[in-house]
Amino acid sequence: MSGPGSVPEQDRVHIFDTTLRDGEQSPGISLNTQEKVEIAHQLARLGVDVIEAGFPITSPGDAEAVQAIARNVEGPVICGLARTHKADIDAAWGAIKDSVRPRIHTFISTSDIHIEHQLQTTRDDVKGQARAAVTLAKSYTEDVEFSPMDATRAEVEFTAEVCAIAVAEGATVVNIPDTVGYTTPEEYRAYFERLYELAPELHNVRLSVHCHDDLGMAVANSYVGVLAGARQVECAVNGIGERAGNCSLEEIVMLLRTRRDVHGLDTGVNSRELARTSRMVSRFTGYPVQPNKAVVGRNAFAHESGIHQDGVLKERTTYEIMDAREVGLESNSIVLGKHSGRHALHDALAELGFKLEGNALNQAFARFKEVADKKKQITALDLEAIVSEEMRESAERYTLESFEVAAGSHRSPSAKVAVKGPSGEKVVGEATGDGPVDAIFVAIQQATAVDSELRSYTVSAVTEGEDALGEVTVMLRAHGRLASGQGVATDILEASARAYVRALSNALEGAAVREAEEVVAEAAAEPATPGP
Ligand code: KIV
Ligand code: ZN
Repeated sequence: MSGPGSVPEQDRVHIFDTTLRDGEQSPGISLNTQEKVEIAHQLARLGVDVIEAGFPITSPGDAEAVQAIARNVEGPVICGLARTHKADIDAAWGAIKDSVRPRIHTFISTSDIHIEHQLQTTRDDVKGQARAAVTLAKSYTEDVEFSPMDATRAEVEFTAEVCAIAVAEGATVVNIPDTVGYTTPEEYRAYFERLYELAPELHNVRLSVHCHDDLGMAVANSYVGVLAGARQVECAVNGIGERAGNCSLEEIVMLLRTRRDVHGLDTGVNSRELARTSRMVSRFTGYPVQPNKAVVGRNAFAHESGIHQDGVLKERTTYEIMDAREVGLESNSIVLGKHSGRHALHDALAELGFKLEGNALNQAFARFKEVADKKKQITALDLEAIVSEEMRESAERYTLESFEVAAGSHRSPSAKVAVKGPSGEKVVGEATGDGPVDAIFVAIQQATAVDSELRSYTVSAVTEGEDALGEVTVMLRAHGRLASGQGVATDILEASARAYVRALSNALEGAAVREAEEVVAEAAAEPATPGP
């Protein structure tokens, strides 16, 4: 079953996606506004209930992306995060107010460890800040969420007191974060039960779970929170997020759906969109999905042992508890070839959920033709990879024009590259390296005169088969920024060169945005010119 079917409202668990906020806090992720909007559209197609689009006070770039999502993405509630400070709440409201369904999410810690060492304040002050923040947020919008941060390491009596204040001021959702991934299922469940006892008014609002994965318990803890009465799960696609990440969206969704027989709960997610969402987030963030990742890993439905293969051939359910089609892992029906025209590409892309028109479609078509000349059949998975690459292209400072490599058993590998610079100028670089890929990377550094340090390099095949497209993800550090880039081509050397140039562009773009923001912040901090 890919949809929620007939689950009664009290048994419907809302999915609050924080890929673009907590997920984006993972090192090396540098999404631009266009990519964030694209991911948000995909989350809407997936059917999540809430998109936490960002933390608007943190930077003008973040505020701009949240605003673009609020204006363009329909369906889910669009939420902006804010500390309890007035400036944060104003910024969050400014960014989300154009959404049809805006939500402000405000938070303050209730654990003594945070209150003493980080906030350096008192419990009374925390109560006052929580009250003022919810009141202010409520003056802007009906839908207000409150989180007592680090709740699982806080005294439950104090957390209950603060939550009761938030509810009295009008909070509609109260979220209980396991901020440092410390709790255990038994403990978390008992925490919820005690909270309900201490603050019965929590029965009148939606309780929520937000679990981090430091001990690998994020999904299990989220699950018991739901069993204890929570009806919102905060989670991220592929489980990305601070440190070890957040509860994985695809895992909790399929856990609830697959074991609905034991708990009767379900979400409104269209599970057939899970695999595509996972691939999109992986590509844009540069965070690969491990092959054995539950639900969306490439081996999640692969059977290696003869006994298992024999069983599945006779009856799928002998060794499969879910159907690969239900999570969208076997939807590769579109096939285009080198004779397919612009219309066919446009229609195939629309079927995949990409709305490309005008120049964007022309660019995608040109790239499609290049690839189709080398690869006979272009499948849905290939198209997705090509188009994702093209979408990142528009943010580029540098683009790869051409490359040549010479390598062999008895010569040191060398490469020559030509790269187009930010103002259209062509720069070339030549270098030798430890291998052909290294030679290409050094040649690119030489051409662009940008010093960068390679952090990770991953190659995978987009589909199975000998003529599969190669997909390379590079993560590097340049100008003090960690950034990733992805490249797709029939030749992995070309894919590597594309990925490196793109990662470099993203790092430079990130550094430029940071610099511009610092200038604005400095100007704002300067004392105003005295008046006459
Ligand atoms: O982990 C956490 O506590 C958070 C809060 C902002 C909800 O991300
Ligand atoms: Zn978090």
